[in-house]
Amino acid sequence: MIYFDHNATTPLDDRVLDAMLPFLTTFYGNPSSLYRHGRVAGSAIDAAREQLSALLGVQTGQIIFTSGGTEANNLALATLAPQAGLAVSAIEHPSVIEPALHLKSQGHELTLLNVGTNGLITQDAIDKVIRLKPGLVSIMLANNETGVVQHVAHYADQLRAHGIKVHTDAVQALGKIPVNFNRFGTHLMSLSSHKIYGPKGCGALVFEKSVEIKPILLGGGQEQGFRAGTENVAAIVGFGKAAELAKTELAERHAYLLKLRKLLEHGLSAIPGLTIFAEQAERLPNTVQMGIHGIDGEMLLMQLDQKNIAVSSGSACASGQREPSPVLVAMGIEPAAAKSAIRISLGKTNTEAEVIEFIKQLTSLTIK
Ligand SMILES: Cc1ncc(COP(=O)(O)O)c(C=O)c1O
Repeated sequence: MIYFDHNATTPLDDRVLDAMLPFLTTFYGNPSSLYRHGRVAGSAIDAAREQLSALLGVQTGQIIFTSGGTEANNLALATLAPQAGLAVSAIEHPSVIEPALHLKSQGHELTLLNVGTNGLITQDAIDKVIRLKPGLVSIMLANNETGVVQHVAHYADQLRAHGIKVHTDAVQALGKIPVNFNRFGTHLMSLSSHKIYGPKGCGALVFEKSVEIKPILLGGGQEQGFRAGTENVAAIVGFGKAAELAKTELAERHAYLLKLRKLLEHGLSAIPGLTIFAEQAERLPNTVQMGIHGIDGEMLLMQLDQKNIAVSSGSACASGQREPSPVLVAMGIEPAAAKSAIRISLGKTNTEAEVIEFIKQLTSLTIK
């Protein structure tokens, strides 16, 4: 199979699996237990926290392990939004949009920040939100569909100057571009393990110490009392190992993915009627979202699947009706063009030969 859907999830790195296995077998103790068997598990969590904090340039006490990016986003919004309404960009992942809509249904003011056709949040949107002064602004670092990288440091600077708290969903950016927490200047940042060759069901919320976290899961005192529940030790160990590898291999992965993406885009440029969405914007080195005039994205996805090639389409199914991608619609792309979208997201184990084979198959399916 040619797997080109790494923004959906990544395969587990063998080295990550090796690090995890002892905690699924021999060392099954509860990290809260005081005897040695529990302390071994507790120390493994401490080590994982060190590994992740080294990747992000933060102190270990600034990390809350969660069940994934979704929980980290929910925790971020629950922590900051209730103070004075919230604003989120129109292209956020559903794990930000849905809790934002939930807060709105409970009476909190919700503002959506617009983006331009290049997928970037406009200065007008930032100016407007500064006038509104919400308790929280949430702006993703990199978009899961287009790969567009937002100027988060620049926005956070302006918002902070007006006393507005900022959260960024860095789930797609982590491991693909440098993600140093302090460089972006946000108060909160969400991360997920399974996008960086770690296990699914594990993530983290990183927080500036001035922020008073409001837990959404109540119970035991795990994670400084901010996230109750017995820790998923093996998954956290895997996330830590994946973070360590992402740190040491980041430059190499970035250069390799960019090389593959350029090869891919060169091949795509020969296909008539093909558009790469947000082509001119700074994008993740692994992501290309494209559409071909007159060709339905989901149909193309199914045809590629028959050739054993896995990509994703931008459309979402709402009440039995296929809707164009809200991200592309927010960018002002016509619904028909948005419905043609497919997303190719490359990974570190993909090869040039796979890219060439993909172009060959795509060409034969779309040029009659
Ligand atoms: C931008 C973004 N945020 C959040 C998430 C949710 O992360 P998780 O799958 O770990 O809940 C995803 C997953 O696709 C994502 O792409």
